[in-house]
Amino acid sequence: MLEVHNLMVFYENALALNDFSMNVTKGRMVAVIGSNSAGKTTLMNALSGLIIDTQIKEQRKGGERITLYGTVKFEGRDITLMHPSDRVRLGMVLCRERHPIFPESDLLENLKIAGYLRTSSEVTERIGYVLGLFPTLQRLKVRKAGFLSGGEQQMLAMGMALMVKPTLLLLDEPLLGLSPMMQNMLIHAIKKISAETGLTIVITEQFARPILPMIDRGYIIENGMLTMEGAGSELMENPEVKGAYFGV
Ligand SMILES: Nc1ncnc2c1ncn2[C@@H]1O[C@H](COP(=O)(O)OP(=O)(O)O)[C@@H](O)[C@H]1O
Ligand SMILES: [Mg+2]
Repeated sequence: MLEVHNLMVFYENALALNDFSMNVTKGRMVAVIGSNSAGKTTLMNALSGLIIDTQIKEQRKGGERITLYGTVKFEGRDITLMHPSDRVRLGMVLCRERHPIFPESDLLENLKIAGYLRTSSEVTERIGYVLGLFPTLQRLKVRKAGFLSGGEQQMLAMGMALMVKPTLLLLDEPLLGLSPMMQNMLIHAIKKISAETGLTIVITEQFARPILPMIDRGYIIENGMLTMEGAGSELMENPEVKGAYFGV
């Protein structure tokens, strides 16, 4: 469904992603594990196309030069240079690291805004789905998003991504900065989405421990380079992975 071939990303002369390749089969859950600055967000931005937006903006104002090599294919089609909004229409949705929400709008309004591509009956159906997935959000429906806790905002952000009814969901460090309890709730929801809808999911994380047990395949990146790949269970048993990415 998603093929990445020899992807390279430069910010000016700094290489952030170096010859990265991966293959994601429909219906699977795949993780990209790497420490801070490994290139996870750069990869997600290249997959979602946000990097193309940034590249164009920077070019216009004579700012930073961003260069991409390699290809990203979605369902057999080369989308390497496609705008992010067109990728959303194809069904690819990114839930960003510290995803932007509309703090002055309430939770329900945020979900509706995120469902802009859907008909009103679909929006109603989707809102029901999201609130079923995150029961915690039920009683917060009319709270302004800016007043939600970090974990609640992350649930809302994931809910907003799901409003689009994606076929490929990209999650950039969804557990970042959350309490263990919140992390568990999110993990539970991600597993549920995958099991019930068969949605294809790519997730990035710094800490492998909560992620590896639920994924089909994992890729380890260091300084923008792929250093290891394998089934989740294989990586779980790998002493190097344990040493570097299992935290304390
Ligand atoms: N806009 C940018 N300009 C210059 N360097 C950047 C930019 N964004 C990220 N980088 C650099 O690229 C590398 C990868 O960053 P990033 O993709 O954000 O990593 P991660 O998400 O894994 O923490 C880092 O060395 C970072 O400093
Ligand atoms: Mg990042």
